[in-house]
Amino acid sequence: MKRIAILAIALLSSICISCKQDLTVSSPDGRIKFGLGIEGGRLSYNVRVDTACFVLPSALGLQSKRVVMDKDFKLMGVKHSSVSEAWTSQWGENKEHQDVHNELEATFKNPDGVVLTIRARAFDDGVGFRYEYKVPGDSVKVTDELTEFRLASGGTSWSIPANFNTYELEYRTLPLADVADANTPFTFKTDEGLYGSIHEAALYDYPEMTLRRFLHSGRNDKDVSDSPRLSEDTLSFRPSEDSLSFRPSEASGEISFRADLAPWPDGIKARVPSEFHTPWRVILITKDAAGLVNSDLILNLNEPCAIDDVSWIKPQRYVGVWWGMHLGIEAWYDDGPGRHGATTANAIKYIDFAAKNGIEGVLFEGWNDGWASWGSREDFDFTKPAPDFDFEKVIDYAASKGINYILHHETGGNIVSYEAQLDKALDWAAAHGIHSLKTGYAGGISNGHSHHGQYMVRHYQKVVEEAAKRQIMVDAHEPIKATGIRRTWPNFMCREGARGMEWNAWSEGNKPEHQTILSYTRLLGGPMDYTPGVFDIQYRNIIGNKNLRMWNNNRLATECRCNTTLAKQIADWVVLYSPMQMACDLVENYEGHPAFQFFRDYNADCDWSRALAGEVGDYIVVARRAGEVYFLGAVTDENARTLEQPLDFLPAGKTYAATIYADGADASWEANPYSYQITSREVTSADTLTLNLATSGGCAIVFKPVK
Ligand code: NOJ
Ligand code: CA
Repeated sequence: MKRIAILAIALLSSICISCKQDLTVSSPDGRIKFGLGIEGGRLSYNVRVDTACFVLPSALGLQSKRVVMDKDFKLMGVKHSSVSEAWTSQWGENKEHQDVHNELEATFKNPDGVVLTIRARAFDDGVGFRYEYKVPGDSVKVTDELTEFRLASGGTSWSIPANFNTYELEYRTLPLADVADANTPFTFKTDEGLYGSIHEAALYDYPEMTLRRFLHSGRNDKDVSDSPRLSEDTLSFRPSEDSLSFRPSEASGEISFRADLAPWPDGIKARVPSEFHTPWRVILITKDAAGLVNSDLILNLNEPCAIDDVSWIKPQRYVGVWWGMHLGIEAWYDDGPGRHGATTANAIKYIDFAAKNGIEGVLFEGWNDGWASWGSREDFDFTKPAPDFDFEKVIDYAASKGINYILHHETGGNIVSYEAQLDKALDWAAAHGIHSLKTGYAGGISNGHSHHGQYMVRHYQKVVEEAAKRQIMVDAHEPIKATGIRRTWPNFMCREGARGMEWNAWSEGNKPEHQTILSYTRLLGGPMDYTPGVFDIQYRNIIGNKNLRMWNNNRLATECRCNTTLAKQIADWVVLYSPMQMACDLVENYEGHPAFQFFRDYNADCDWSRALAGEVGDYIVVARRAGEVYFLGAVTDENARTLEQPLDFLPAGKTYAATIYADGADASWEANPYSYQITSREVTSADTLTLNLATSGGCAIVFKPVK
């Protein structure tokens, strides 16, 4: 099946063992150059774009207590190779992919017998490199990773702070010079107008990498001044003056980050076997913001599909017994009359709604026993339904209506308890014909582990692999960051890993610019279960609800709202791609609403996608195709915007019936968020549409071919 899943056509693959010690690798178009250096036995790399330095010579290496892993190296050999191949995926923004890159494999050895291979790949839209170590002895305790990212230029950046337990933090727009630490994807635009994003690919059995600032100049935000430094102008094995030359003036305004790995509770960063490799360290480099979104580099750095039969892995739209809990008008368990959301009657109502509207799946949260202990003992039982939830009846009813039952496993972070139940719980789910599972880790992790350390990276992966054995797709909340492993494990559909819709129910809410930053940061790693589509934007319909309670963050839902217009909620279904795409509002807010037709027409099983235009933190326009139908989504930040959007992504010579869901002429997210208009017209690829986006507004279009 691997062969079938890959369906890759190797167009060109040449390996040559170089006679000269050429330690650079260039992108196929020749614009991006990754160069390795060795000085005094320590390794460094740099990246150049055209003739300019993009990443200044930056340290490489890991450290461990037992053995020297970062110095005294001598070059043993260099290999160069090239790949140009096509591959396909079961699902994704795109199903067809091109992997075109050049590779450098440089092997070093030190007197401790440590063999280190740096494998670096240069693509037209960035570079990736990783460490491949062979260390004497049985195993290694990694105490630090020394990888540096010394950016050659100032600019503007978009990121969340580094945090080993949560990604649900507000995005910051900061001058690069003002960033003390950041999580990845860490996106920036340089003063020269290039776009970059630092991230990682294929994160397995290793902690996550965050970025921590260090400065040579003494203006240290975080002092890591004991880390090894390389002098920029004395690199050995120079491939050419052009690729490694360094001008001292480039050092002014030093903007340098170092990898900071999420540690184990005892401070060790990673526990690895004696032969291991790290995840890829990735730097996307593009000339426009849309190029970051359109990059396949992270997926290309992941391995081909590891699952033989993928026929059961299918994108879906879903609704769920969910938003009521976040609004506080329902609860995850029976904490008072009429409060439990996942009752049999409510479940049937949601299944009926999904069936009537052609929606594939329904999520039920609060279906099982243990919720009363959420936030304390976290003793959830994953095979014991709540007393007022007739699980057998609900699942039979869902099956009779052709609806996928989406199971929920909230662990509260109690991994010890969850792993003890995992086999039984997944067997039980599979025996009931369940193929979709949402997991959650809302709470502190067992035994002092962090959400993003190696212990949890292993756990998340274990769940994905155990689920795959039973033909179950996974949507993880409070997850580890997305690093493209969906290529290898396509049953890992989506995850949370940023502030999603839920924050609008019990906080000041996601800012108008949130989605315009998410698209160029978090989403570069992979799809997010953001759960868009709230139509009751200001929660008018729950005012006076006798079941309303404040339950989180000291905020009552009626003091909160979504900071968007209605059309933006619709456009988010397109913009915030997910192979499990939710319409998250209470179904009564969709009943009879003309604009819900968009979600009925939407298809989560995309074939092709393209970001057409945008600027980070300002706006984005995305087009997707599913079968013969095209969708367009455009969203803006707090500024109203008029966009002239050519439709040249449509096939030439065909006519399409376009239904346009736009902001009303008087719409604005603050004063008039509900104002929208639906218009229809015929278009061809030769047309240009004017999209009028209100403040924090949007536009969504469905294009159906006219037969
Ligand atoms: C946080 C998740 O993000 C949310 O979707 C879920 O409803 C709650 N935890 C409860 O599991
Ligand atoms: Ca969450």
